[in-house]
Amino acid sequence: MALLPVPEVVDRPFRVVIVDGVHDVVVDGCIDGPYDEVVDAIAGLERALGDGRATVAVIGPGHAHAFGLEQLHRLVVAHPHLAPVVVAPDLSTDLLQQAVRAGARDVVARAAGPRALVDAVERVGADLVARGADRAPRPWSDPGAPRRGRLIVVHAPKGGVGTTTVAVNLASALAASGTGAVLVDADLAGGDVALLLGVTPERSALDLVGSVHYAEPEFLRSLLVPVGEGLLVLPAPAEPSGPDGPSPEELVAVSAALRPLGTVVVDLPAGSDALVRAFVDEADEIVLVTTLDVAGVKHLHQGLLRLGLAAERDPRCRLVVNRASTRGGLAVREVERVLGLRGAHAVPDDPAVTRAVNAGVPVVRTAPRAPAARELARLASAYAEPRSRGRRRRRAARTPEPGSGRRGW
Ligand SMILES: Nc1ncnc2c1ncn2[C@@H]1O[C@H](COP(=O)(O)OP(=O)(O)O)[C@@H](O)[C@H]1O
Ligand SMILES: [Mg+2]
Repeated sequence: MALLPVPEVVDRPFRVVIVDGVHDVVVDGCIDGPYDEVVDAIAGLERALGDGRATVAVIGPGHAHAFGLEQLHRLVVAHPHLAPVVVAPDLSTDLLQQAVRAGARDVVARAAGPRALVDAVERVGADLVARGADRAPRPWSDPGAPRRGRLIVVHAPKGGVGTTTVAVNLASALAASGTGAVLVDADLAGGDVALLLGVTPERSALDLVGSVHYAEPEFLRSLLVPVGEGLLVLPAPAEPSGPDGPSPEELVAVSAALRPLGTVVVDLPAGSDALVRAFVDEADEIVLVTTLDVAGVKHLHQGLLRLGLAAERDPRCRLVVNRASTRGGLAVREVERVLGLRGAHAVPDDPAVTRAVNAGVPVVRTAPRAPAARELARLASAYAEPRSRGRRRRRAARTPEPGSGRRGW
């Protein structure tokens, strides 16, 4: 058996422990940076954690299996000062999923080599120390979290009015403007984001739930699907999630955790008040979508009442009237008056939207000059400028006041 290199003594604010029963990582030279200790098993890691020091644990490929990762998860929950980096024999979807759920802050393929592993260890260690290793792990949505993009939710209480079309195009236009955007499909029971963007869903919010409190933003980035310039997508699962799926709060935490990667746009499903309420509480901006007909406007009006969202007094709210055409329908101004929202974006009914859906590319990219694309791009540019707004003001605007000044429907 090859000899282990002698650990160097370095002045570092965190300790590096290697868990490597067969000395795979060390002998292969996979970690050639300094480390403090090597233990044979995950149980040995627990002993090393007793003193409460910030610790990055490199989990060797021999322990990167279901049972090892389950043991690791128990340690992560019990020891907030532990941040694991898993060295995986391969980067299969299953293994990545298990590692993320176990609380790995990063996963490095064994084949990626020593430099990638040392970089991951240094990055995870620096983050652990910066966040305060002595405190319990917190969601990225906490006020003390690092730089964040805004969270924009897109919602209509009625299906089929164009919510997904608006969300996909808004995210795509924001991404193209250089701000970086993440699009989350929060309709786990059958979202259409993947379809509209022509991507195959491999991982969804289900894979991130439970780990977002620990995972590094760069690691989360690797779990998303890159689409076109600057857009990252978290699609709905390929198999619809059943009643034992994540709670609304868990889905909000997943979406909020992606904020360090850019502006997060969330496509909300129709007909799920608890989920919508949880997202509305967290959102920086709310896009409300209706069509230009009495039924669409009535549903939106009633939906806002159910949510206790006083849209006319809440500066986060913006209205999109989709498939707008004056023929036989209401006037946009009438809809604005009923809902108490001014400055609506009227997106016309446009065959270019249908063509774009069939091509699996957002209309703002396939046909930027089409009338619908122009208005959707204008909506995105309204979010290009940062707005500073306090939470207190948002909360105040949520006081429910049934029938407050709006005409009844
Ligand atoms: N402005 C528009 N012009 C033409 N077709 C549209 C427009 N907006 C949406 N559609 C079409 O309407 C259908 C429903 O849109 P979608 O965004 O999936 O609605 P929702 O998410 O509210 O259920 C899609 O087939 C889409 O192509
Ligand atoms: Mg939809």
